[in-house]
Amino acid sequence: MTRVFSGIQPTGHLTLGNYLGAMRRWAEADQYRAESLFCVVDLHALTMDHDPARVRRLSRQTATLLLASGLDPDVCTVFLQSHVDEHTRLSYLLECVASDGEMRRMIQYKEKAAKERERGRSVRLSLLTYPVLMAADILAYGANEVPVGEDQAQHVELTRDLAVRFNQRYGHTFVVPRATLPPVGARVMNLQEPTRKMGKSDDSGAGVVYLLDEPDVVRKKVLRAVTDSGREVVYDREERPGVANLLDVLAACTGGNPESLADVYDSYGSLKKDTAEAVVEALRPLQARHRELCADPAYVEGVLRDGAEKARAVARPTVDTAYRAIGLLPPVAEPSLSAAR
Ligand code: TRP
Repeated sequence: MTRVFSGIQPTGHLTLGNYLGAMRRWAEADQYRAESLFCVVDLHALTMDHDPARVRRLSRQTATLLLASGLDPDVCTVFLQSHVDEHTRLSYLLECVASDGEMRRMIQYKEKAAKERERGRSVRLSLLTYPVLMAADILAYGANEVPVGEDQAQHVELTRDLAVRFNQRYGHTFVVPRATLPPVGARVMNLQEPTRKMGKSDDSGAGVVYLLDEPDVVRKKVLRAVTDSGREVVYDREERPGVANLLDVLAACTGGNPESLADVYDSYGSLKKDTAEAVVEALRPLQARHRELCADPAYVEGVLRDGAEKARAVARPTVDTAYRAIGLLPPVAEPSLSAAR
C-alpha cells in the first residue's frame, strides 16, 4: 500500500495557501487512498531564531487546524515530530551518509543563511543539517509519496540520494520516496504580490489570508487584492497574475474551472466580491470545527498521544534496522532479566 508522509512547520499561522495547496487534498483524498502520516515538525521550527512560547502555541494550533481541516485520526496519523525519538535517532545516521558539500548546496539553506548573516545573526548549525532531519522524517516511515510544495522538491531529491546511498553501502533498508507536487492551480499566490506564493512566514499579512481570519478580515484582504492593468477578466497567469490568482482561488473554493469562470465576470469588482464570499464559505466549516476542538484540549492531546504511539510503532523497526546495518551493536538485555523468563 502507498504510504504518504508530509510535514508542516509550526513557524507561522497557517494560510489559505496551505489549505488549498495541501491540507484539503490530504483530508479529502490522501488519507483515504493511502496509509498517511501528517506531522507537525516542531524540531524544524528551532533552526532559526525562535521564541519557545510561540513554538508551543503554534505547534498546538497547527495540529488543531490539521484536525479541523478534516484529517481523521481514525483514518490517518497526526502527531508532533518531537514526540517520536526516531526522527533524531535516524537523523544522526543520515548525517554520517550525507556530505558537507551536499548540504551547503541546498538552495533554501543558502537563501536563509544569507538572510541571517545580512541581519547580523549567526546561522544555527541545525539550519545546515535540517534537510537531513527532513530526510529522516520521511525515511523512518518508509513513505513512498511526499506531498510538498515546489520549494521542498530539492530536499526530497536529497532524501532519495541518501536513501539510495545508504542502501548501497549498508544493505537495503529504506524505501526511496518521491515528491508529489500540487497541481498548478492549487498554488495560491500572495494577494498583494501575485508572483510570490502565499507563505505563512510572510512579514506582512495584507496579502495573506490566514485560516483563522475573521470573515470580515478575509473579505477586506480579498477585496484589496492587487489586480492587473486592463479591464476584462481573462485567465492568464503570465500576463495577469493577480486576476489569475483570484480565478484560481475562486475555482478551488467552488469546484469550478478558472478559464470558464473568467467568462462569467465582466469586472474585477464582481470577481473579487464573489471570490471573497467563496473563501469565507470555504473556511466556515473549518473555523467552526477549530472552535469545537479548542474547547476540548484534552481530546486534541489524546489524538496527539495516540498519533505519536502509532507513528513510533511504524518508525521503530526501520530505524533499528538502520542502526544494525550501519554497524552499531544492539543493546543486550540484562542476563538476570532474560534468565528470569
Ligand atoms: N521542510 C518542510 C517545509 O518547510 C517541512 C517538512 C519537514 C517536511 N519534514 C518534512 C515535509 C517531511 C515533507 C516531509 O515545508
